[in-house]
Amino acid sequence: MARGHFISLEGIDGAGKSTQHGWLVEHLRGQGHTVVATREPGGTPLGEKLRALLLADPMHLETEALLMFAARREHIAQVIEPALARGDWVVCDRFVDASFAYQGGGRGLSWKKLEELAAWVLGDLQPDLTLIFDAPVAIAQQRLHAATSQPDRFEQEQAAFFERVRAAYLRLAAENPARVRLIDATQTPGAINKVLETIVATL
Ligand code: TYD
Repeated sequence: MARGHFISLEGIDGAGKSTQHGWLVEHLRGQGHTVVATREPGGTPLGEKLRALLLADPMHLETEALLMFAARREHIAQVIEPALARGDWVVCDRFVDASFAYQGGGRGLSWKKLEELAAWVLGDLQPDLTLIFDAPVAIAQQRLHAATSQPDRFEQEQAAFFERVRAAYLRLAAENPARVRLIDATQTPGAINKVLETIVATL
């Protein structure tokens, strides 16, 4: 049995990543693939409980990082590894890059600590492809405010926080050119669909 494919989607809040996640899952299913659609933090019953805490409760920065990686450990063991071993496609709305972007870039946790956690929790596992949806913070904030009436703990952050998150995502894209594709998220949803279609056809 050939190992499956692992795709993660990333970007600042309001970049349009979740809409494209839904589209990509349906596109791949339409091509006859078995697709596991999942998200982080979350993706397992325990992970979804941790997500509820992470999005609502104030906590120390390192607690936040550790809970993100605790949810991820469970997700890898219960969902991602079994799916890849079955030969399925895994399409994940955020994965480890979000920890580098938000806890590292946004909150200022050291990159080295995040690398240590990633080495521990991920081992050799990495997405085959990471799509980073990039848009100026002002545009993402407009979209977010139009779509969200009750912003969560991250969505309530100021523009300067999201500038740092965006800069960290751009750094991750530059440092991992073989894995990461940067998508111009200011395009229309239809134009982005076409870009994704072309990229995933190469997997
Ligand atoms: P998000 O995908 O934005 O959920 P929704 O579209 O339902 O609002 O994810 C929730 C938040 O979690 C998001 O603001 C980023 C944050 N996050 C981190 O800070 N670190 C992480 O490692 C992950 C996976 C998410």
